[in-house]
Amino acid sequence: MQDASTRWVRIMSKQEIPEGDFVRCLKADGKKVCLIRHGQELVATQATCPHAGGHFSGGWCKNGMLVCPIHRYEYDLRTGRGAAGQGDYIDLYPVALKDDGVYIGFKTGWLKRLLG
Ligand code: FES
Repeated sequence: MQDASTRWVRIMSKQEIPEGDFVRCLKADGKKVCLIRHGQELVATQATCPHAGGHFSGGWCKNGMLVCPIHRYEYDLRTGRGAAGQGDYIDLYPVALKDDGVYIGFKTGWLKRLLG
């Protein structure tokens, strides 16, 4: 999980993690993301729905799928792929739970890595 092309950004302390399942949109390093817990898994996705730009906050999870609260399109939390017939997908970001909190990994472009 540690490679030079991924920049890890801390988004909350362990104490701030809500109890139980949740879908929460927040900002990480200026980028809007959605942090989700479904069962034992923490998953990070893009914050807005590709269908019509609805916000995922207020959404929920069902059988490993994130359900958008606006028109109830569904997205697989493991692959990002939309449910059958939707023909769309969402971006997923790696999540790491460390001693001091929850981190989301963002890919860094080659030019930014080159320039530091
Ligand atoms: S905006 Fe999400 S399903 Fe339509």
